[in-house]
Amino acid sequence: MESVRSQFPILRREINKRKLVYLDNAATVQKPEVVLKTIQEYYELHNANVHRGVHTLSQEASALYEQAREKVKSFINAESEQEIIFTKGTTDSINTVAFCLGEAYFEPGDEVILSMHEHHSNIVPWQMLAQRKGIKIQVIPLDSSLNLDLEAFEKLIHPKTKLVAVTHVSNTLGIQNPIEKIISIAHQNSIPVLVDAAQSVPHTSVDVQLLDADFLVFSGHKMYAPTGIGVLYMKHQWINQLSPYQGGGGIIKTVSFENTEYVEGALKFEAGTPNIEGAIALGAAIDFIKEIGIDAIHAHEKFLHDYVIDKLSDIKNVEIYGSSERKAGAISFNVKGVHPFDVGTLLDKMGVCVRTGHHCTQPLMAHLDIQGTIRVSFAVYNNVEDADIFINSLNKAIEMLC
Ligand code: ALA
Repeated sequence: MESVRSQFPILRREINKRKLVYLDNAATVQKPEVVLKTIQEYYELHNANVHRGVHTLSQEASALYEQAREKVKSFINAESEQEIIFTKGTTDSINTVAFCLGEAYFEPGDEVILSMHEHHSNIVPWQMLAQRKGIKIQVIPLDSSLNLDLEAFEKLIHPKTKLVAVTHVSNTLGIQNPIEKIISIAHQNSIPVLVDAAQSVPHTSVDVQLLDADFLVFSGHKMYAPTGIGVLYMKHQWINQLSPYQGGGGIIKTVSFENTEYVEGALKFEAGTPNIEGAIALGAAIDFIKEIGIDAIHAHEKFLHDYVIDKLSDIKNVEIYGSSERKAGAISFNVKGVHPFDVGTLLDKMGVCVRTGHHCTQPLMAHLDIQGTIRVSFAVYNNVEDADIFINSLNKAIEMLC
């Protein structure tokens, strides 16, 4: 563990003269040296535009960029690297599907099923589609332990249902949804499924062929890569059927003033100069994860999660939101009678970074009838010392505030 921690330069800094305890990993994770070095090396040695030049640098940059696509393909076990589209991140990936699928496939009165666990980036693009095309949004409700109610889900399915778009892991609660079952129910009804895997891919093994997902999206910055790079996995039949929603260079075979013929495969959806160094650094982040092993990462984070839940449960007036056998990454809680921002601010004074507020899940907050929560979320570099410092600091904050 210490050797993993030492690969993250930022963990050596202090916050308010205290050891940095970074527990806001569901928002974004810190970056290991290997990723930072990859970006620097790319600019020092290979920088050029991709797929556009016969010169050496362009050939090298293109090869590195396409190797990164291959690494993503193997990481999520896609059938072909042509199913891997590089985007800016999860939000960009969902917007791409909402537009491309929305234009081609939705008619007024059609329905998309979301869930109460969704964060805003898997709600707002569908609302925009609803405004453009007159579609209706249905929402899978929660049971008393805040898990998705699958019986209610089945009842929402309707001849007009055109898509199910659901998060794999709730960013706020850390609950891992039974996505296999959701996909299987949807497919029995010939409905495609989009999986928001932003909070699962960094924490647990995801195999798109095993899941049989139609679309699966995630962000690089939550999995040790930089911001501004993400992935849209699109099953090959959709890649072939859908048209891009952005036009430009890099996606064409021929252009005249009258007409454009697009290239085939993933590149069709990557108009303009892409985030080349971001994609290559995402490849390096995947190598980093693979070297440790995603199952080992999952086991480590699950241990820390259970350890913290145990300690939190002993603190008077703490209310933890949601419980499930299958959780990844995050814990949300409140201290009765105390605003989450006050706890977050005092924790920061003690060097502990957590997220407070609605976590971009205002509908879930409305369902819980609260303004927000305090959320701690884990990454591979967190350890028991981090957990203990967090719990001690929380106890001190509660003493000051109550
Ligand atoms: N979706 C990110 C989070 O959960 C930003 O914090």
